[in-house]
Amino acid sequence: MTRRACVVGSGAREHALALALSRSASVLVTPGNDAMHGQSIQVSDLPATAIDADLYVIGPEQPLVDGLADELRDQGRLVVGPGRDAAQLEGSKAFMKDVLASAGVPTARYGAFDDADRAVAFLRELSGTVVVKTDGLASGKGVLVTEDLDEAEVDVRAKLSGASFGDAGRRIVIEEGLKGEEVTLQVLVDGNSAEPMAPARDYKRLHDDDGGPNTGGMGAVSPVASVDDALVKTLMDRAVAPTLAELRQRGIDYRGVLYTGVMITGEGPSVLEFNVRLGDPEAEVILPRLADDPFDLFASVASGTLSGAPRFSSDAAVTVVLAAEGYPA
Ligand code: AMP
Ligand code: GLY
Repeated sequence: MTRRACVVGSGAREHALALALSRSASVLVTPGNDAMHGQSIQVSDLPATAIDADLYVIGPEQPLVDGLADELRDQGRLVVGPGRDAAQLEGSKAFMKDVLASAGVPTARYGAFDDADRAVAFLRELSGTVVVKTDGLASGKGVLVTEDLDEAEVDVRAKLSGASFGDAGRRIVIEEGLKGEEVTLQVLVDGNSAEPMAPARDYKRLHDDDGGPNTGGMGAVSPVASVDDALVKTLMDRAVAPTLAELRQRGIDYRGVLYTGVMITGEGPSVLEFNVRLGDPEAEVILPRLADDPFDLFASVASGTLSGAPRFSSDAAVTVVLAAEGYPA
């Protein structure tokens, strides 16, 4: 009997997931998009909770923050994606920073604010590059990185007033800017064990030569020449393991992909962010390199039976994002 996988989402990441899963399963994507055609890929307007499948993979962060994984698990389904409580790791940057601080994971110095005058006072204590982030979800667009404190102050006030990002910005996190090379390590977590996937690098600035505003990602590559096995092990030991232990201590079971965004600074790796799902565009360069059966692998994540690290081909993959005019504003 053919196995059925349901992919939730409608972007390039979900297309990459559908293509990978369709190697050995029939795939239904909800809501999908018109470009997703394949012998074993269909799109559906039905909500995931009304679709009958053997495995559910939730692509984007919003449905995870809204509790879709919990709803599906309550129906007895096998799901790749954390529940609402763990999704706060991405849904609230203040929560994430608090978890990192409790877990002793290296991360940029920060403050969390809902009051503009206090936020600006903190900002003015920093020097060099500063970073202003919405606490809530903003599709990767809620982050300002700048050396101009006046620009940062305008941004702080626009975010906190709700003018620029609505409720997502009514609380903000301000951080010291870190310098170095960025790495994305996406980790499979089955509730007990955690195994790294191949590293990737996402290029977040809009223009060539790392110029222009931050975006959700303009392109990605995998593998990353400067990231070796020793660095992956360091990231697993110093960032991922303590974070998962801290979540467990708070009574939170994590099942899904833990996206670890890291800056490799002169003083060593520092965690920029956690996301609770595959990256986009990182998924597009990771999944085509996967040498294991994607359905079996994701099913083992969902069922708590992950055994050993996933294998990747030695091929290299590159993706470039074609964005609408005016992106990211
Ligand atoms: P985040 O959503 O927190 O990952 O931020 C998005 C992007 O902003 C990151 O991938 C980095 O490129 C940049 N960024 C975030 N925090 C910092 C920081 N403390 N220093 C320098 N760049 C940062
Ligand atoms: N490419 C960054 C992200 O998926 O959040």
